[in-house]
Amino acid sequence: MTAPAPLTVLCIASYRKGDAFLLAAKRTGARVLLLTSRSLEQADWPREAIDDIYFIPDVDHHWNMADVIKGVSWLARSVKIDRIVALDDFDVEKAAALREHLRIGGMGDTTARYFRDKLAMRTRAREVGIAVPDFVPVINYQEIKDFLARVPGPYVLKPRSQAAAIGIRKLGSGADLWPALEELGDEQSHFVLERFVTGDVFHVDSLVADYRVRFAIASRYGTPPLEAAQEGRVFSTQTLKRRSADERTLLTFNQRLLKALGLREGASHSEFIKGADGTFYFLETSARVGGAHIVDLVEAATGLNLWSEWARLECRREGEPYRISPSRRHYAGLLVSLAKQEWPDLARYDAPEVVWRLHKRHHAGLIVAGPKLERVEALLRQYADGFYRDFFATAPALMRVSQ
Ligand SMILES: Nc1ncnc2c1ncn2[C@@H]1O[C@H](COP(=O)(O)OP(=O)(O)O)[C@@H](O)[C@H]1O
Ligand SMILES: [Mg+2]
Repeated sequence: MTAPAPLTVLCIASYRKGDAFLLAAKRTGARVLLLTSRSLEQADWPREAIDDIYFIPDVDHHWNMADVIKGVSWLARSVKIDRIVALDDFDVEKAAALREHLRIGGMGDTTARYFRDKLAMRTRAREVGIAVPDFVPVINYQEIKDFLARVPGPYVLKPRSQAAAIGIRKLGSGADLWPALEELGDEQSHFVLERFVTGDVFHVDSLVADYRVRFAIASRYGTPPLEAAQEGRVFSTQTLKRRSADERTLLTFNQRLLKALGLREGASHSEFIKGADGTFYFLETSARVGGAHIVDLVEAATGLNLWSEWARLECRREGEPYRISPSRRHYAGLLVSLAKQEWPDLARYDAPEVVWRLHKRHHAGLIVAGPKLERVEALLRQYADGFYRDFFATAPALMRVSQ
């Protein structure tokens, strides 16, 4: 009996991302192809994991889809592509368009829209009974006026398909909206307007196989990402107490949400905000792993690397079961700050619970983890104070740590 031919997986990354995915995909025995931006030709891709790499001409990482369809169809003349995987949020719809064009299985255009367009996802979530902050599309002016009359401010005006709090504006009152729309001009229909809900922001990171959530972990950001990005703060997040009321509610909502939006296979990062009334409001979801070192946070808590697990999941053959089992049930907390120093010295942050440190110019970051939540929380508080004192610098436009 001859061994089955290896699967051919085409990974799409318009940004420099996903090394752990590429390496793990290669480890499954798959043939790994990477489609990326021409501007990343010289980047330090993990070449040992990539069988062939193809470049698309880009303008600041933007691709012309007609070029992409032509290029990949040319490749498909000689290569039988089994899977297409989008490694970055901005690649989700490109991958879907290619699957539709080449008739390859996996997420198509309709489902991709639910994971990329914040208007589509909240409309669908509301249809299945998940609470969302009251919102209105920036389309019909009469509907916007009715919304402003009905819903008190403040509001957020946010792009339907961005990430990392880019382009989000907080508006005090309805009067602030019209000049903002004027400024956006023809771009305004790509935005959604919603009530600003004050409260803690949570995230749920999950892996889905055959429409079932196989793994999910809930965490809470120390500061809501909008404040962290726009006002400049130390970014932090920590995993939630297991079996707590918040954790159970979030995991249940996440399951319902992903099912309703139709995620069959893959990774997802979703966000919710807990209002003063105790309700969890759905903010956004995605068909990718979380950014901002959340993968490292989850690995510290559970022993599972979401990138590699996602690769294992995608590289299964038709009908092959997917099994996943976290190797530990610890708690973990992450801190990241812009640093005044080029290479900040973290030597003083030396508790045995420090399991990971960030090595990035003008950044300080670490993860603490252990079996006791109280200890992780206490260290995180103490170290966050230390970060403000020792390293903290603010340059809001640069603080793009969260997605
Ligand atoms: N309706 C809202 N009420 C309060 N804060 C919000 C609201 N929408 C967004 N935010 C803030 O903005 C951040 C980014 O918004 P989000 O919808 O997650 O978009 P992005 O894709 O940019 O992460 C959130 O984490 C939260 O801090
Ligand atoms: Mg977000």
